[in-house]
Amino acid sequence: MKSNWDRSSWRKRVRRQMPEYLDAKNLKNTEHRLNHLPPLVFAGEVRNLRSDLRKVEAGDAFLLQGGDCAESFEEFSADLIRDTFKVLLKMAVVLTFGGKRPVVKIGRMAGQFAKPRSSDYEEVNGQKLPSYRGDIINGIGPSIEDRNPQPERMLQAYTQSAASLNLLRAFSQGGFADIRRVHSWVLESTKGNVGYKRFSELATKITNSMEFMRAAGITSENVDTLRKVDFYTSHEALLLEYEEALCRQDSITGLPIAGSGHMIWIGDRTRQIDGAHVEFCRGVQNPIGLKCGPSIRNEELLQLCEILNPENEPGRLTLISRFGADYIGDHLPNLIKIVKKEGLRVVWSCDPMHGNTIKSSTGYKTRPFDTILSEVKKFFQIHKAEGTYPGGVHIEMTGKDVTECTGGLQSIHDEDLLSRYHTACDPRLNASQALELAFLVAEQLERDVEGIHG
Ligand code: PEP
Ligand code: CO
Repeated sequence: MKSNWDRSSWRKRVRRQMPEYLDAKNLKNTEHRLNHLPPLVFAGEVRNLRSDLRKVEAGDAFLLQGGDCAESFEEFSADLIRDTFKVLLKMAVVLTFGGKRPVVKIGRMAGQFAKPRSSDYEEVNGQKLPSYRGDIINGIGPSIEDRNPQPERMLQAYTQSAASLNLLRAFSQGGFADIRRVHSWVLESTKGNVGYKRFSELATKITNSMEFMRAAGITSENVDTLRKVDFYTSHEALLLEYEEALCRQDSITGLPIAGSGHMIWIGDRTRQIDGAHVEFCRGVQNPIGLKCGPSIRNEELLQLCEILNPENEPGRLTLISRFGADYIGDHLPNLIKIVKKEGLRVVWSCDPMHGNTIKSSTGYKTRPFDTILSEVKKFFQIHKAEGTYPGGVHIEMTGKDVTECTGGLQSIHDEDLLSRYHTACDPRLNASQALELAFLVAEQLERDVEGIHG
């Protein structure tokens, strides 16, 4: 165990972006109950993910991390999980084909419930209310009762995460992800779209290659990797009462594991060196993500790497840059340079969502698809110039046919946003936009990365 660390040592640090629970007895009781429930993920799985991410760090694999901004209790359904999983599988196929390397798949799923907010209060229908902080904390409804933090919501989040994971494990291991079924991953909602044809053509190429391999004796009956996929879960480790209660000891190594998800990350607003979130994350063995926005200083990043990954182990730390298309060029090259100079082994991933949020002319929070693509392209160009490996992307997307981000091949305009704007928090890419992004990333990987680690 790390020196001076235990799963509750974060409580001595500054508490940011977490609710003040009014009902202390109820909170204690909830923590007690969570404490006695099984962990959602197991140490062996966490170790596997670390070793997969080690391959990403070495340039031998690519990381795809995606899912909801905020999962919701109300929207929860098997169809939604299946459709989001299908989109991630399709994106992974496109990336594997174009990038010619395995794709490590991590969902922002089965635990992504707590949200940092820029303000503690918000105005709803002319009334000042505590901000909505995600379903694990409070309700989105427009009343003070909804907005007060309710500890027992943690139990519902746990139950929903367990049910989601159960389904995801079945989908990834039980035949659904068999590469022979690649054509069946297409969603009804995307069938008329331009991107559909491109994916179908790719799927046909894959099916043809499979026929060839079958003739040569390689089939999904005798090769596990053609029939099953490893699929991992992740979320922002924001609500530390929940994280602490699910923290367990790995029975093999005796070391602590966050049992709430395979990978956890620290948000851009809670990465203070002396803060509670960095303290909790430094002590668990899970792979850790660190969001890096425009306010991060070089010195600060080096200190965070030292605290979170003192042994400099590849696969432990993923730096997720989220500067915005207009600012990535001012920040990312410096960060890469100092990380290179210090010989730090990190995975570089690009979140092209959180630095590109704007208000549309119709009043909706949105993200123009072109701006998202532009940040991703610049991420690749910068890494090419620095001679480093652009290891992955981190996106907010859904299998639902929503209209939340403008643009894309469907040409969603400001006026279209209201037709299917369902997000509880930030605007997400819909299935077609997510696939379009995957094609672009695959092209960049094909073009820019050959020669670095090809
Ligand atoms: C998020 O990933 O949903 C998020 C809030 O990101 P960031 O911490 O980068 O703002
Ligand atoms: Co978000």
